[in-house]
Amino acid sequence: MTTATAAPRTNGPRPEETAAPRQNPPTFLSDPYPTLARMREAAPVSVLHSDGGLRLWIIPRYADVRAALFDRRLAQDARRAQALADSRFEGVNLGAEITHMLSSDPPDHTRLRRVVQAAFSRKRVEAMRPMVERVTLELLDGLDATVARPTTGAPTATVDLIRDFAFPLPILVVCELLGFPPEDRDLYRTWSTAIVTQEGDQEAFRRAVQEMGAYVLALADRRARRNDRPDDLLTELLAARERGELTDDEIVGMVALLLIGGHETTVNLLGTSCLALLREPGQAAWLRADPARMPMAVEEFLRYDSPICMATTRFTTEPVEVGGVEIPKDEFVLLSLGAANRDPARFQDPDRLVLDRRDAGHLAFGGGIHRCLGALLGKLEAEVALTALLARFPGMTLACQERDLRWRNTMMLRGLESLPLTLRR
Ligand code: HEM
Repeated sequence: MTTATAAPRTNGPRPEETAAPRQNPPTFLSDPYPTLARMREAAPVSVLHSDGGLRLWIIPRYADVRAALFDRRLAQDARRAQALADSRFEGVNLGAEITHMLSSDPPDHTRLRRVVQAAFSRKRVEAMRPMVERVTLELLDGLDATVARPTTGAPTATVDLIRDFAFPLPILVVCELLGFPPEDRDLYRTWSTAIVTQEGDQEAFRRAVQEMGAYVLALADRRARRNDRPDDLLTELLAARERGELTDDEIVGMVALLLIGGHETTVNLLGTSCLALLREPGQAAWLRADPARMPMAVEEFLRYDSPICMATTRFTTEPVEVGGVEIPKDEFVLLSLGAANRDPARFQDPDRLVLDRRDAGHLAFGGGIHRCLGALLGKLEAEVALTALLARFPGMTLACQERDLRWRNTMMLRGLESLPLTLRR
């Protein structure tokens, strides 16, 4: 995403042409909130131009973002979006090679979501708790082992919490859910990174989509040949294909969405929550004193540093008025969940982490028909992982200066690239 340029003419007041984040400046990546606050204060809508030249209308205020999430005049169908982009801008790739429920409108969206909805019910997610606990404990044992074998005399070890814990945990959980080989998890991570940061490298994006598609269909074929029907989501997807409810492309799209949606977000949440607790040891001690406080704290972590900073791109199918500004038909719109969740008009003292805030109105999971399908699973993973981590390593500290931390190179997601920690027993 890049610089602001002249805003298009509207019937209402002109939207603010904001001082937009430039090509991933480290300051925006490490702390986007001052920029988002300026945008939110300046106007209900700001106009930015992406690197690819796409004009984007950004909505940052809580009430407007919430209303837009439920507004059916904002559509998401990837093929229509691509056709619209092709008719107006040159060389913009919106990733329409993969279509899934998040890039579909009803009735396709309704059909695709229905196929997997039951797998994410409260009951089914609660049944995954023992598996999530087992995976968490195995990973913590792995970290513990590095502390137990110090290379120097001191019983400490430096680990990268993202690489060694926050990434493997949700990806292993999604692998269990889907019935995918966990040993290929680094492959999934490579594809996923190429797909979510598609603006950077179109070639890597296309390669990732092709490789992932071939991988998923080969796995499905192996199962079909062996008549192998384990109790997992891939079996359910293949049964839906047999019933004629899903095509091959839709199976690939579904798997891509679950693999990516199921781990990118949770990795980010674990990393930023852990960093927030390192900054505020008093809050960590308060949490450790009573693990029953964790579900409430996770809601606050989700509000405070929302893993998806900008919801996926939508486009207007009719003119839409936002806070007195009219966004014309056929314009691309971004909803800033990160800005909405720090809006002082909705949350008192929004830039402060208040773990017992008891105000769960955040929009970190979106809203409306596309509200996160895996919200209960994501929260379960965070609750289990953070509780166990705090209990196992009460004395963990940051192993570098905070200003040296590296953040994901995208303004759509909010997450750490790595989190070096010193662990001690
Ligand atoms: C803390 C973790 C998570 C966060 C913060 C999160 C956030 C979100 C958000 C904001 C959306 C809506 C995006 C939009 O409207 O543009 C979404 C959609 C979705 N998420 Fe999550 N997510 C999380 C975890 C998960 C997990 C664990 C899964 C599955 C394994 C998952 C699967 C999905 C799916 C399938 C959708 C599309 C729903 C639809 O289009 O109807 N998410 N997520």
